[in-house]
Amino acid sequence: MGRLPHGKTVYRPNRNKKRPEKRKPQNLPPTSFDEKTKIWFNGKMVRWHEATIHVMSHVIHYGSSVFEGFRCYNTLNGPALFRLKDHIDRLFDSAKIYRIDMPFTQAEIMQACIDVVRFNKIKECYLRPVAFRGYYSLGVDPRLCPTQVAIAALMWGKYLGPAALKTGVDVRVASWNRMRPNTFPAMAKTAANYMPSQLVKLEAKTDGYVEGIMLDSQGYVSEGSGENIFLVYRGRIYTPPFSSSILPGITRDSVIRLAEDFGYKVIEASIPREMLYVADEAFFTGSAAEITPIRSVDRIPVGQGKCGPITERLQAKFFAIIAGREDDRYGWLTPAA
Ligand SMILES: Cc1ncc(COP(=O)(O)O)c(C=O)c1O
Repeated sequence: MGRLPHGKTVYRPNRNKKRPEKRKPQNLPPTSFDEKTKIWFNGKMVRWHEATIHVMSHVIHYGSSVFEGFRCYNTLNGPALFRLKDHIDRLFDSAKIYRIDMPFTQAEIMQACIDVVRFNKIKECYLRPVAFRGYYSLGVDPRLCPTQVAIAALMWGKYLGPAALKTGVDVRVASWNRMRPNTFPAMAKTAANYMPSQLVKLEAKTDGYVEGIMLDSQGYVSEGSGENIFLVYRGRIYTPPFSSSILPGITRDSVIRLAEDFGYKVIEASIPREMLYVADEAFFTGSAAEITPIRSVDRIPVGQGKCGPITERLQAKFFAIIAGREDDRYGWLTPAA
């Protein structure tokens, strides 16, 4: 057992035990895990295989974790974290909603994210900070379970497939709805919210689609299993509001700002399902998915069935900023060289 800054104990595995056996290859696709990298775990850099928890930790039984996901880009000026502060603000908002005491400050977690990139000498990666209720007791009441925090770096490529950013993806409307308001808080990015997301993803993949779009409890468009959604209809850009149980996406916010600076009108309003079929363009946004065009919904082509001109324009601007080819006038990049 070890101590966290707030004085509670935390389960520590026995460091002397043998490393887990390497999995034998079974024609699996390459993993995004680089087991040589170190993970920031409760304030220290530890080896990949040492970042472990006990099976009786609260999080395993009740899904009690909050997390973030964002990219470090290999810009012309060196590695830089995209909207670091906004992601860590959202992490702390998620923790606040669930009354999870954070044993580190926001500044410490932000610094730790930079340290993970620097320490591992990484040029680009996807960062996954996670805070969870740890090991102490099994009751639903989590108050005595200490919060543990980890930050790992993954080598995540193009989330919806290598060609997706250019050609677009085929998606379906999910048979599962996004959670109703006042059930699971949709504004919190918590592990528990990803159980329905897994159903959506599995259903889509099983039926030959790349992704599913959930409707909200009223039947209006909400979001993908891990992405926000935008539609272009008659020259205006539409995206569902927070009240459609979306996660307040940080890429969504970036795209709204870019679009408004281009002079487009962005309307945050309830979107009926059929607008997916008559839209001129549609695209997903997310830290993993970036800006991915949607070329069909339920086998109905969206517009011309390819990446539309407004999507292309937004993509070009976004990718120029994250590559460091354009001035970071929004202050979105934090250097980690
Ligand atoms: C359910 C869900 N919606 C939206 C998003 C997009 O959010 P962001 O752009 O902050 O990554 C994500 C990705 O984290 C997500 O998992």
